[in-house]
This record gives sequence, C-alpha cells and structure tokens, in this order.
Amino acid sequence: MENVKLIIEKNIQVGKDIYLMRLAGDTKAICNPGEFINITIPNYYLRRPISVCRYSNNHVDILYKVLGRGTKDLSTFKEKTEIDALIGLGNGFDITKSNKPLLIGGGIGIAPLFGLAEAFNKIGIKPTLIYGARSIDDIVLVDKLSKLADVHICTDDGSLGYKGNVIEYLKQSSIDFDYYYSCGPEKMLEFLAKEYSNGCVSLEARMGCGFGACMGCSIKTTNGYKRVCKEGPVFASSEVLF
Ligand SMILES: Cc1cc2nc3c(=O)[nH]c(=O)nc-3n(C[C@H](O)[C@H](O)[C@H](O)COP(=O)(O)OP(=O)(O)OC[C@H]3O[C@@H](n4cnc5c(N)ncnc54)[C@H](O)[C@@H]3O)c2cc1C
Ligand code: FES
Repeated sequence: MENVKLIIEKNIQVGKDIYLMRLAGDTKAICNPGEFINITIPNYYLRRPISVCRYSNNHVDILYKVLGRGTKDLSTFKEKTEIDALIGLGNGFDITKSNKPLLIGGGIGIAPLFGLAEAFNKIGIKPTLIYGARSIDDIVLVDKLSKLADVHICTDDGSLGYKGNVIEYLKQSSIDFDYYYSCGPEKMLEFLAKEYSNGCVSLEARMGCGFGACMGCSIKTTNGYKRVCKEGPVFASSEVLF
C-alpha cells in the first residue's frame, strides 16, 4: 500500500451517472487487476474505495457511478485537481487460474474487468465477457471492451442485447470456459456462486480504513471471517457464505 498524490487528467461522463476518471502520477504500487484505490474526498471523514479499472506505472483509470454525496462531489472535480489516495489495496484477480476465462460484470461491476481483460490480452488470451445491466443507459464503453474481449451484452429490459440477467444468459449459451471472474451486485454474485463453483467473486463492503486495521469490512467465509479490503475483495465463489 502507498499513499500518493495523483493529478486528474480527465473526468468525463460516459453513461447515466457514470464517469471515467484518469489519474496520473506514480502508480507503481498497483500490481494486479481487481485491486482498489481509496480516495480522499475533501470534507468527508472516510475515504471512498473504487476499483482499479485500467492502470500502468504512471496512471490509473477509475470508472465510477454517482451514488451519494461523495461520488457526486468527485464527478465535479476538474482536470489538474490533486487527489490524495491509498493505492495497491486488496488482492486482485489471479490470472493464472484460467486458460479459457469468462469475465462476468454486472452494472458498475464492469470496472475492474477492463484491467483483467487487458492482463489476459498481455499473455495472448482474449477472454469472453458477459456484461449485464438494467438497461442500455447503464452499459458503457463497449467499443473499448470489444477490443479486449469477446463481449456478450444482457439487459433486464431488453433494450440492448439479450433480455434477461447474466446468469440466465450463461445457462442458455454455449460459452466454453474453465474459470470465471465476476464483479457486480451482491445478489448476482450469490446466484452465480450457487450455480457455478469454478470461479471467483469480487465483493464490495462498507469500509472504514480500507487496509486491514479496523475489521469493519469482515465477511463470513468457509474459513472464518475475512476482510474484504485485505484478504479480498476477490474470493473463491465456493468460499463466501452469502
Ligand atoms: C472494493 C470496492 C471497490 C469498489 N469499486 C467501485 C467502482 O469501481 N466504481 C464505483 O462506482 N463504485 C465502487 N465501489 C462502491 C463505492 O465505494 C461507493 O459507491 C462509494 O463509496 C459511495 O460513496 P458516496 O459518498 O457517493 O455514497 P454515500 O453517501 O456514502 O452512500 C450512498 C449509498 O451507497 C451505499 N454505499 C456507500 N459505500 C458503499 C460501499 N462501499 N459498498 C456498498 N454500498 C455502499 C450506502 O449504503 C448508501 O446507500 C467499490 C466499493 C468497494 C468496497
Ligand atoms: S475496512 Fe478496515 S479492515 Fe477492512
């Protein structure tokens, strides 16, 4: 973990209440797709955890949805604003688990799957990606995703792609995979884990410190309590007691 100052290079709206922010600076402490960063937003006591979307040694992109006051404030930040953040947090995804990966993203849970797809591309693998959301307005950056993965889209209302959720889509499809990587709403992850045990889920939790000190983000697993911020956010599907 490192505490760094990053400069906003861009902060643009890419969908309904969804923003893409590029932060420039020393980001060498970010080692794996699926890690998160914890951002200080002035006037709020607690930092806000946001997944690493894409990254290099000198930048990190985040994709975030405006949910409450903190993310609303974040969406108003202008270019060249300095941001204080803890980076290199969490375990991230393990790409060595799969030769035929299936990535499954629900809503804003698509964010860490960009970096994951990119990591697979670097070792010569183009993963399959199922991207589900409520409607077409919640689906973002498909052009960029399509360069990294074989993308299948589902919407609850059928306004884009398959009409239904990601699990219904997966069941009726003939997608061949040996391991899945998922991030999205808790209910989606729970149903996915019940149907398919050969994969992992990236979880969210209300966080205090974000680096393992307060136990505030603990969840029940088959191996006792674990901290989402430290042992997670990525857990084996079979391990989480939803
Ligand atoms: C490891 C991790 C990675 C995340 N990655 C992303 C990401 O890539 N993009 C993104 O848009 N969001 C992400 N989130 C969620 C993000 O942290 C919250 O949306 C944000 O903190 C809300 O702040 P706020 O001040 O706008 O909302 P608040 O005013 O604090 O809360 C608004 C509502 O959101 C709920 N909420 C707040 N924080 C969380 C949380 N951590 N988990 C679940 N519900 C919460 C509150 O209960 C409340 O209902 C992630 C969370 C975690 C733990
Ligand atoms: S948020 Fe403090 S231990 Fe996880």
